Amino acid sequence: MLSTCVIIPAAGSGSRLGCSEPKAFVRVAGRSLLVRSLETIISSGVASAIVVAAPEEFLLRAREEIAGVTAKTKCEISITAVAGGRDRISSVQTALKHSGDAEFVLVHDAARCLTPPDVFTRVVAALHSGAEAVVPVLPMIDTVRRAISDSAGAVGAGSPEVVRGDLDRAELRRVQTPQGFWAEVLRQAHEQFATGGAGPTGGAASTGGAGSTDGAGRAGSSPSTDDAGLVERLGIDIVAVDGDEEALKITYPLDLILAERLARVRDEGAAMKQIIPHTGIGVDVHAFSADPARELWVAGLLWPGEPGLEGHSDSDVAAHACCDALFSAAGLGDLGEHFGVDRPEFAGAPGAVLLAEAARIVRETGFEIGNISVQVIGNRPKIGTRRTDAQQTLSAAVGAPVSVSGTTSDGLGLTGRGDGVAAVATALIHSN
Ligand code: CTP
Ligand code: MG
Repeated sequence: MLSTCVIIPAAGSGSRLGCSEPKAFVRVAGRSLLVRSLETIISSGVASAIVVAAPEEFLLRAREEIAGVTAKTKCEISITAVAGGRDRISSVQTALKHSGDAEFVLVHDAARCLTPPDVFTRVVAALHSGAEAVVPVLPMIDTVRRAISDSAGAVGAGSPEVVRGDLDRAELRRVQTPQGFWAEVLRQAHEQFATGGAGPTGGAASTGGAGSTDGAGRAGSSPSTDDAGLVERLGIDIVAVDGDEEALKITYPLDLILAERLARVRDEGAAMKQIIPHTGIGVDVHAFSADPARELWVAGLLWPGEPGLEGHSDSDVAAHACCDALFSAAGLGDLGEHFGVDRPEFAGAPGAVLLAEAARIVRETGFEIGNISVQVIGNRPKIGTRRTDAQQTLSAAVGAPVSVSGTTSDGLGLTGRGDGVAAVATALIHSN
């Protein structure tokens, strides 16, 4: 897997938003744009490192917010904050110098702090598929017309503006962030075309001298407002992937109102997701063995003197049903999928060992285990005689309460005829 550094330009003042502090520290439903951006990037799982370009006078504040996010998410990737420049391109340029040796660089505006994580995944997937530069895009919704100078003079020079309908909306796209690049490509584009002042005390405040003559020799092109615009001047194709309407750029006060509503809906949804538990079910059946030497293992216990069950493993139907119930609750498939041929260390492992491993896998996926109930169906063994032992053994394996009950099937079916033993389990888990 190639590594990805995400740069967050967050050094702007937010003049159009009109808040008393820089835009990155403005709160959207309780958490700042910077914090929300960091949380999304971390949860997307694409980043091996993050570099934040923050306003120079607010570096300490940025570092405090980063520390807060790191602690809350138990994030282990490196997140650094550097002083941004006078314009966005300069901020990216400075951050780029701290992006290490990652193969890919994503540039993501803090102003788009509600970008869903799957937009990041799509951009990185396109880079992995061979694209050198990737941007998320959306179709145009409004009709677009070009403002032109009328015969009497310049646009906005007192006379009414003239707009010409020579643009085909179907061909136009709105471009969002994160924009993804091969790191070397982005570095080269910045070196060649972004001649604006890098660093907080940098010189020119423009997005570069590329405004009059671009490096590709095209005279008169306008300065780039994004990184893809610079990279395009290297003659590289910019590949588009689907953007998302929720990745709105918080620019004006109305955007903040919209973002606030959206963030609240999302936060409540996430809270509900944590409250609503997941249930799972598991069933296992084994026939009695004809081999008199075979031992009977059920519910993590050896049952001396009882006929054993057929099977490659210890055939502990109760433990196996519990494993399946856990996997089913977590949406992780079943026993065969996890302890198949590709995990030979578990071949023939006792049921309680498999159960402990199943519980570990489920927790690793981000769940906590509430409890498991398992019922053993068969004429023997008589579960009631050793229920406490069975419950303690299975509970210790899972690290959560497991209740064990037994029943017969009134002489009917394979369990009633005494051909074998079955078990049915349910598990209750919840996301962390
Ligand atoms: N940005 C930056 N350094 C700058 C200017 C902008 O890192 N010198 C970042 C902003 O923090 C933002 C992104 O670039 O995340 C896009 O810029 P924009 O939305 O224009 O933010 P501001 O420049 O802060 O807003 P405004 O133009 O209204 O002042
Ligand atoms: Mg700006």
